[in-house]
Amino acid sequence: MRPKGLFVTGTDTGVGKTMVAAGIARYLRERAGRVGVLKPVTSGAVERGGTLVSEDAELLRWAAQCEAPLSDIAPYILREPIAPSEAARRDGVMVRFERIRESFDRMASFHDFLLVEGAGGLLVPLGPDLLVADLAKRLGMPLLIVARPDLGTVNHTLMTCECARARGIKVLGIVINGFPEIPGSAESYAPRLIEDLSGEAVLAVFPRYPDVDGKAVVERLAARMEKEPLATVLKGELE
Ligand SMILES: Nc1ncnc2c1ncn2[C@@H]1O[C@H](COP(=O)(O)OP(=O)(O)OP(=O)(O)O)[C@@H](O)[C@H]1O
Ligand SMILES: [Mg+2]
Repeated sequence: MRPKGLFVTGTDTGVGKTMVAAGIARYLRERAGRVGVLKPVTSGAVERGGTLVSEDAELLRWAAQCEAPLSDIAPYILREPIAPSEAARRDGVMVRFERIRESFDRMASFHDFLLVEGAGGLLVPLGPDLLVADLAKRLGMPLLIVARPDLGTVNHTLMTCECARARGIKVLGIVINGFPEIPGSAESYAPRLIEDLSGEAVLAVFPRYPDVDGKAVVERLAARMEKEPLATVLKGELE
């Protein structure tokens, strides 16, 4: 049986996967027992005290209050902020599914719910014969797709849904993140059009919170969760 959890992917890099996954982790922390987080592959690490660290993994870990070792939360931390397979090559590393699976299995054995953040979008290469989509499929986790709200998002989101379906990956739904306070013309129809054309549910439309730091965004997303259909879907996944 697969562990409970979900795989958070995006239509692109920088769309808010970490914020949304961390918001969900923060929300579930008081409702789901032990929440585990994984950022299997980070490219674009920061160097601190001579060690490479994954800021995504650190934020996810903080949000979930996950006490697992960082070597399992973030097994591959690569230096350059470029396609992970290329960042790995330049670091002299090879990203292997089996290594990620080992961390995933250890995490699954002592958490009640796992949140996995991909890297970029579904067809981003992680290593030889390993795209983000392959990772989601092989881990057997359903997808939550994070999308931008602005012009171009209909195309990117529909392509992401088609890609998932073509590969037999279950899509739980879509989250539109960073919706502006005053929507422009394109934002005003995007959620409706995406839902109509994709056949997938838009489970949340999260606002853009300007002028606040990452942790404050996470707190706000978590506090807002109960208002969104995503909360009901998460509760369903927990049963
Ligand atoms: N709802 C929001 N309100 C305000 N700022 C946000 C929101 N969502 C994301 N951001 C900001 O946008 C930036 C990108 O978000 P995030 O790091 O979550 O993207 P990502 O999809 O995880 O990127 P990557 O592909 O690098 O992992 C961050 O600086 C984050 O603080
Ligand atoms: Mg991220």
